[in-house]
Amino acid sequence: MYKSVLLMFILLATYSCAESKKDNNTTTETTNIDKKWWKEAIVYQIYPRSFQDTDGDGIGDLKGIINRLDYIKSLGVTAVWLNPIYSSPNDDNGYDVSDYRNIMSDFGTMEDFDKMLSEMHARDIKLVMDIVVNHSSDEHEWFKESRSSRDNPYRDYYHWWPAEKGEPPYRYSLFDAEGNAWKYDEQTDSYYLHYFSQKQPDLNWENPKVRQEVNDILKFWAEKGVDGFRLDAFQFAAKDTTFPKFPDGFEKNFIQYYAMQDGLHKYLKEMNSEVFSNYDVMTVAEGAGRTLEEAHELVDADRNEINMAYAFDAVDIPKADGYDLATFKETFSKWDSAFAKKGWISIFLSNHDQARMVSRYANDSLAYRAPSAKMLNTFILSMRGTPYCYFGDELGMTNNPKLKNIEDYKDIAAINGFKKAKTNNEDLDEYMRNLRFGSRDHGRTPMQWDASENAGFTIGTPWLPLNPNYKSVNVNAEEQNEESVLNHFKKMTALRTNNDVLVYGDYKLIQKEHKQIYAFTRTLDKDEVLILLNFSKNEASFALDNLAAYSEIKINNYLELAHTELEITLKPYQAVILGKD
Ligand code: GLC
Repeated sequence: MYKSVLLMFILLATYSCAESKKDNNTTTETTNIDKKWWKEAIVYQIYPRSFQDTDGDGIGDLKGIINRLDYIKSLGVTAVWLNPIYSSPNDDNGYDVSDYRNIMSDFGTMEDFDKMLSEMHARDIKLVMDIVVNHSSDEHEWFKESRSSRDNPYRDYYHWWPAEKGEPPYRYSLFDAEGNAWKYDEQTDSYYLHYFSQKQPDLNWENPKVRQEVNDILKFWAEKGVDGFRLDAFQFAAKDTTFPKFPDGFEKNFIQYYAMQDGLHKYLKEMNSEVFSNYDVMTVAEGAGRTLEEAHELVDADRNEINMAYAFDAVDIPKADGYDLATFKETFSKWDSAFAKKGWISIFLSNHDQARMVSRYANDSLAYRAPSAKMLNTFILSMRGTPYCYFGDELGMTNNPKLKNIEDYKDIAAINGFKKAKTNNEDLDEYMRNLRFGSRDHGRTPMQWDASENAGFTIGTPWLPLNPNYKSVNVNAEEQNEESVLNHFKKMTALRTNNDVLVYGDYKLIQKEHKQIYAFTRTLDKDEVLILLNFSKNEASFALDNLAAYSEIKINNYLELAHTELEITLKPYQAVILGKD
């Protein structure tokens, strides 16, 4: 066979310089593409509580972020999404806001915020704020007023059910230990609705005054110069407020029953015309509806609602006992093709509601942590859609083995979920197995800066334990190692930033049946790249008739690439991007 007589040769990866390959012709030939800064953005998500503490209370703060802005800039990311930093009693770590125009004292002051924003802008980094307005905290002034009497002017800012009407129709609560989203409140002998915890009462979006309040809050931050908004849990804002009785088992598909109802588009259009369209801001909503059509209705430019959807199909795939690469490929390919011509999506594999991506999708063992983390970062940064990179993933941070027993967890969802499982006589060992694999707390353990005590995160006691692997997995060590996950991440951001094909190019899945390799091309005019990702811990071969055409190695997470003219053999978790010369 021709193939077999060819000598296997080894190409030393030269990481061909992304900068020098910027194709100016491509840029000018792509006028039919609707270019936007937020499509070209690389978003870095910071969980402020866990990023950098400066005052020794064991909790990250805004001054800490300011101190680390040069690091953030060095990553090659262009925008930061910050989880909520507003005043909050922290029942759900800031997703329970008690004052939308103030900074949580744990995090600092408004002065710190203003400084942080201007220092970000001085470095050309944009800031996206998290807006939590499906619910507020029960300690917000609006709720204090609302619960004080039935005829208080703020009463209809929330959803109340008078006790004389009998028990309200059951609603499932995502975070409640008892599971019911209605909470009885003695003061006015009524129940209020809370889809999340009891301290997160749902706002009544049918009340135009609530919508005006929210638009004013958005304007307040837009006037300060922030560059975008992420609308938290927003599909829940539009609910059926006639509160019909739902069929048994509706919790399994609860979105269909009590989110995404009529009204959602009206609310978003109002926000768009009152706020978004008057500022150069990007907008992304958590959740993307139930179908691709519904996602389009949120994000298509002619709808004048938001810019991009943040869908969960992909992060829902991994389970404690593994997952199927075929499903992974199918999911990403389905979302890409649905938005190929119109609309825009987000690409991510982790965030503050997920465990660490390398532990969920790849391999966090000593031998494979680094190549597999690099492989996942290559994937995120080579797909069409705006990439969201979660802090620490640029280092290959992993799930934390210190989170063993329920007492080790801080997340309200984990703790109340455990209580609920116990009440319902569920298998608690299985509950803990799933928690150890998928808990949100794994994604929230502190940033690993160096090998000193507590990884340079704090001089106090960290609010969640550091992952013991911080002695070797940390910024300081990885900055000094040319082959680190961190340096690979920087090469990938540079490659994406300097190659429009990775932002705007068409995506095509190839050899979709391949059991180990995820292979796809991105094509923009004459520019084409081939991306090959080995998702397995075994070597994997990939044959292609015109392989020789892809003669330039643009990125490689190993020093070598074994291939003939017709076949490439990838090492465990090897990731390469090849270009046509
Ligand atoms: C969103 C947030 C999550 C939070 C929840 C309630 O899903 O991402 O962290 O707990 O909303 O606000």
